[in-house]
Amino acid sequence: MGKDVIIACDFDSAEKTFSFLDKFTGRKPFVKIGMELYYAEGPSIVREIKKRGHKIFLDLKLHDIPNTVKKSMAVLSRLDVDMTNLHAAGTGRMMEAAIEGLTRPDGTRPILIAVTQLTSTDEETMRRDLLIDHPVKDVVMHYASVAAAAGLDGVVCSPLEAEAVHSRCGKDFVTVTPGVRFADGDVGDQKRVMTPAEAKKIGSDYIVVGRPITAAEDPVAAYERCCNEFIG
Ligand code: C5P
Repeated sequence: MGKDVIIACDFDSAEKTFSFLDKFTGRKPFVKIGMELYYAEGPSIVREIKKRGHKIFLDLKLHDIPNTVKKSMAVLSRLDVDMTNLHAAGTGRMMEAAIEGLTRPDGTRPILIAVTQLTSTDEETMRRDLLIDHPVKDVVMHYASVAAAAGLDGVVCSPLEAEAVHSRCGKDFVTVTPGVRFADGDVGDQKRVMTPAEAKKIGSDYIVVGRPITAAEDPVAAYERCCNEFIG
């Protein structure tokens, strides 16, 4: 699986997104489109960014009954994205249905990864609201195993979990890790962070980087720095 830097395009309009992407006149970055931008602009934003030559991670985190997820994945697959995701909490059967829906008639499909436990959910919240009485790390590892058994390609996880996920699910099981910050940069609201170089060392396959690039004075330079540190 190719290592790459994915820029989280957390903007609320096509206009802001394009004025950001217009700065990248050389290498076209892999971009993540999340719920905010997708709900603001609809599927046309995906087609337009794709037309400009970017790879796309469509981060919509599906979670519903297997039949609904299967049909929705079939629609997303036609958008020709490169990567998409769902919540592992939807169960193994939902994940298998997702793969069926996502697979195109020619047998190809986007990379499908699972969200294990959101990094905003801590152990106390899991116990109180979800009645899950296990350490977060065990839950993340278990969800990753269920995702792997269902045939998914990988998981979104904290960079601190990437090594353990690889040893549990195999080195080809993809880890996509947010929470990346430059050594001399602002941490912001992220609690557990790693530099791109550290993420490379622990074996992350893709890093998702938002504000360190989108809010930088020179986003292209910040992106290039990220690529140099992570890909080398
Ligand atoms: O700006 P920043 O680099 O913190 O952006 C990280 C991106 O990764 C955001 O789009 C955020 O929603 C996403 N993300 C995350 N932590 C997770 C899952 C996704 O930060 N556990």
